[in-house]
Amino acid sequence: MVSPSHNSMIFFLFFTANLWLCFVPSTAELKRFEHPVKADGSLSFLVVGDWGRKGLYNQSLVATQMGVVGEKLDIDFVISTGDNFYEDGLTEVSDPAFNESFINIYTAPSLQKQWYNVLGNHDYRGDVEAQLSPILTKMDHRWLCLRSFIVNAGFVEFFFVDTTPFVNEYFTDPNESTYDWKGILPRQEYLSNLLEDVDSALRDSTAKWKIVVGHHTIKSAAQHGITIELEEQLLPILQANNIDLYVNGHDHCLEHISSTNSQIQFLTSGGGSKAWRGDIREWNPEELKLYYDGQGFMSMQITQTHVDIGFYDVFGNVLHKWGISKDHDSAEL
Ligand SMILES: *[C@@H]1O[C@H](CO)[C@@H](O)[C@H](O)[C@H]1NC(C)=O
Ligand SMILES: *[C@@H]1O[C@H](CO)[C@@H](O)[C@H](O)[C@H]1NC(C)=O
Ligand SMILES: *[C@@H]1O[C@H](CO)[C@@H](O)[C@H](O)[C@H]1NC(C)=O
Repeated sequence: MVSPSHNSMIFFLFFTANLWLCFVPSTAELKRFEHPVKADGSLSFLVVGDWGRKGLYNQSLVATQMGVVGEKLDIDFVISTGDNFYEDGLTEVSDPAFNESFINIYTAPSLQKQWYNVLGNHDYRGDVEAQLSPILTKMDHRWLCLRSFIVNAGFVEFFFVDTTPFVNEYFTDPNESTYDWKGILPRQEYLSNLLEDVDSALRDSTAKWKIVVGHHTIKSAAQHGITIELEEQLLPILQANNIDLYVNGHDHCLEHISSTNSQIQFLTSGGGSKAWRGDIREWNPEELKLYYDGQGFMSMQITQTHVDIGFYDVFGNVLHKWGISKDHDSAEL
């Protein structure tokens, strides 16, 4: 269903070659995938995060309702905002948790679509390479997990960003768990290359809607709150490139924060299993459009001119709806 776009890769190489005289590019660009839109030109999908607990903590109830809503919206794919397998990621590609927390849980016909997954901090506590392995995709064709990548669907483009390596305490706190940093070190080089790649991909994007997905919060009124490293390093790039939505997990709740100083909407979908329950910080009520501390998930329907978002609880009740329009011309700006 999904294949790397050779056209855009060729374009990018050509583009890079032109700039070769000015500077030496320090990294390979982010891998790009194309996802077709529906015949009517729309796209719909679900977002779930912080889920892999072998069905426990209402993971199964969330999965059931995702199946129902997924059917109703005729979804094209599912996005996972990370923390795919608790507590410590996968131990290896044959870890039975892949079946117990993914294959055997999201069984509804409507969920048999492509899943685009990022890694969360808990995934980094296991064997990261296992989650990135094509062996998992062979076992279940829905599975696609990379550290950072791009999904292009024409008028909308998704930028998946590996946020765990940004967080200082995972590297410095002696009480922290052990993380699998293979492929990340030296850290500063990894982070600056990643930021550069995200910045240039966003700058080059001609998509009308730009959606960035990462595990960690940028703005959140829940337990983890603001991720200061992302606020300092990633947010300025997102603002400078006029992205529309930042979508994350990490805080085990559902949230919509509508920033008053930029157009960016901050959407937390981290209610895939164990929920925080009652853990809320103070936040400007003018910005906080939804805070729900139980389990659930989010839906999105996108056309050339509209984005519509919905949040659902474990019974499939709609907790919050929000929408935004852009006229036809604004894409050419
Ligand atoms: C499952 O969801 C229901 C409804 O929100 C809630 O009352 C219950 O406590 C949840 N169970 C767990 C284990 O979180
Ligand atoms: C997991 O599911 C896959 C696909 O259904 C199957 O091939 C594999 O044997 C299962 N593994 C385990 C450990 O149950
Ligand atoms: C590590 O844990 C110990 C015992 O719980 C605590 O006293 C100490 O302050 C912690 N250190 C850090 C850096 O959080």
